[in-house]
Amino acid sequence: MSNRQGRAWPAVLEHDRLRLRPLSVRDRRAWREVRERNVAWLSRWDATTPPGSNARPRTFGAMVRAMSAEAREGRQLPFAVEYDGRFVGQLTVNNITRGSGQFATIGYWIDEAVAGRGLITRSVAMAVDHCFFVLRLHRIEIAIRPENVASLRVVEKLGIAEYGYAPRFLHIDGDWRDHRLFAITREECPRGLVARLDS
Ligand SMILES: CC(C)(COP(=O)(O)OP(=O)(O)OC[C@H]1O[C@@H](n2cnc3c(N)ncnc32)[C@H](O)[C@@H]1OP(=O)(O)O)[C@@H](O)C(=O)NCCC(=O)NCCS
Repeated sequence: MSNRQGRAWPAVLEHDRLRLRPLSVRDRRAWREVRERNVAWLSRWDATTPPGSNARPRTFGAMVRAMSAEAREGRQLPFAVEYDGRFVGQLTVNNITRGSGQFATIGYWIDEAVAGRGLITRSVAMAVDHCFFVLRLHRIEIAIRPENVASLRVVEKLGIAEYGYAPRFLHIDGDWRDHRLFAITREECPRGLVARLDS
């Protein structure tokens, strides 16, 4: 994997035809096209707004601006996933916590048209290594609905261990949903997750 700048953010992480780079307002058209084509594929796993909480950004531009502001504050890394130079999905490192925690969570989705090529599995490995070795975070967590067989395979293939179960943990597809919780610490993979994936 190469990280051209070697800096926390903005960062570009590359492997062959796969590229993670900051999500941009310029992705609007490609993002809309992919999202519209993938409504059925994604809606079951999409985050939704719980009743009574603040509305989420309504437009793509507002979403990117909100994410970029969080990134400037060091609280998230909103990556666009590109394959062969084309926008195909998102991977976001969220909830970056410093102090005595030094942890973060990761969420992701990809266009069904390029699913099954290992792109998100490798993207997670690249993002986790960036978090461990550039941001110097200690622990990365991923929460997955028990029904999400494809996403469960991502953590399984990376050897990320399950540590718990959270009933009604996140508001997904219109309701509070149970999640299985997975996490990895830096000590568990001293050479990184990309090396583990390639070994
Ligand atoms: C979960 C997801 C991100 C995986 O991305 P990916 O790039 O396809 O990941 P991989 O290629 O490593 O495939 C992971 C598993 O997905 C499943 N899969 C692959 N192609 C698939 C397809 N066309 N349709 C359904 N499932 C498929 C397989 O079980 C695969 O495991 P395998 O490699 O042992 O066969 C993708 O399925 C997705 O975007 N799903 C909808 C959104 C979502 O669930 N986000 C995560 C919420 S926690």
